[in-house]
Amino acid sequence: MAKPIIITGASSGIGYELAKVCAAKGHDLVLIARREDRLLSLKAELETARGVQVLTYRGDLTDADTRQQFFDWTQTQGIAPYALVNNAGFGDLTAFAEADWAKHNAMLQLNIVALTHLTRLYLPGLIAQGQGRILNVASLAAFLPGPYLAVYYATKAYVLSFTNAIASELQGTGVTATTLCPGPTESEFQERAAAKDAQLFAIENMPTSAEVAAYGYAAMEKGQGTAIHGTKNKLLSFSARRLPRHRLADIAKRMQQPV
Ligand SMILES: NC(=O)c1ccc[n+]([C@@H]2O[C@H](COP(=O)([O-])OP(=O)(O)OC[C@H]3O[C@@H](n4cnc5c(N)ncnc54)[C@H](OP(=O)(O)O)[C@@H]3O)[C@@H](O)[C@H]2O)c1
Repeated sequence: MAKPIIITGASSGIGYELAKVCAAKGHDLVLIARREDRLLSLKAELETARGVQVLTYRGDLTDADTRQQFFDWTQTQGIAPYALVNNAGFGDLTAFAEADWAKHNAMLQLNIVALTHLTRLYLPGLIAQGQGRILNVASLAAFLPGPYLAVYYATKAYVLSFTNAIASELQGTGVTATTLCPGPTESEFQERAAAKDAQLFAIENMPTSAEVAAYGYAAMEKGQGTAIHGTKNKLLSFSARRLPRHRLADIAKRMQQPV
């Protein structure tokens, strides 16, 4: 395979568009998500339009055995990835005291544990080949506490901290680790998070997943440490680093209210 890129959560939204951007740049792809039908139609589209090779894998990344089996499968296929894109993730808008624990546990497993586990599995290979990229998808949520999406925001703070730390460890190896922080973006996220009515997503000209994916790919290629999409989001993250945490929580709380 030619400079293959592994993308998790490529069946919709930002991951789907990242697959398109990577294929347009000539990368072969390995795509994983649960909805294999979507991966297969994307594979057919990209193989025809871009002439790249696309392998698909149906798997639930909240499951540790699935993650190990996926890694083993890529090894037996002889895939030496150029990049790993940990994009799969979801949120759930609810008061924490009423949270569905199974759903929140799955969120922790996917947004934190799967991202960390896959990074641990693939990183030694990237370092051994002396070049490579990790792109971990966090969020603007990484910069503040998020009432009613408390666990989700906290998972993204983890992704930012973890990825910034390993980026530092990787200096001089030829491998870089980039944290992509999108703000509200058009995708299936809002519906899955039951957050369609939240003020956060009631913005005009919400960026598309394609715009965020193009930005994320460019940042990954440059080896940028933290990549915050959009000028407004950059300003927000900058202010977030200066305001007291309780003030930030109040602001986020208002954004999570219905319109
Ligand atoms: N949209 C936003 O406003 C926004 C803002 C900031 C950050 N983000 C982050 O961007 C990333 C992509 O989200 P999106 O906005 O593109 O949402 P999306 O359209 O809902 O896409 C989420 C992807 O994750 C996959 N996924 C979910 N659960 C999975 C599981 N258990 N195992 C494997 N794959 C799973 C989904 O595939 P299957 O359902 O087929 O498995 C889907 O491909 C997430 O990490 C999200 O937190 C989104």
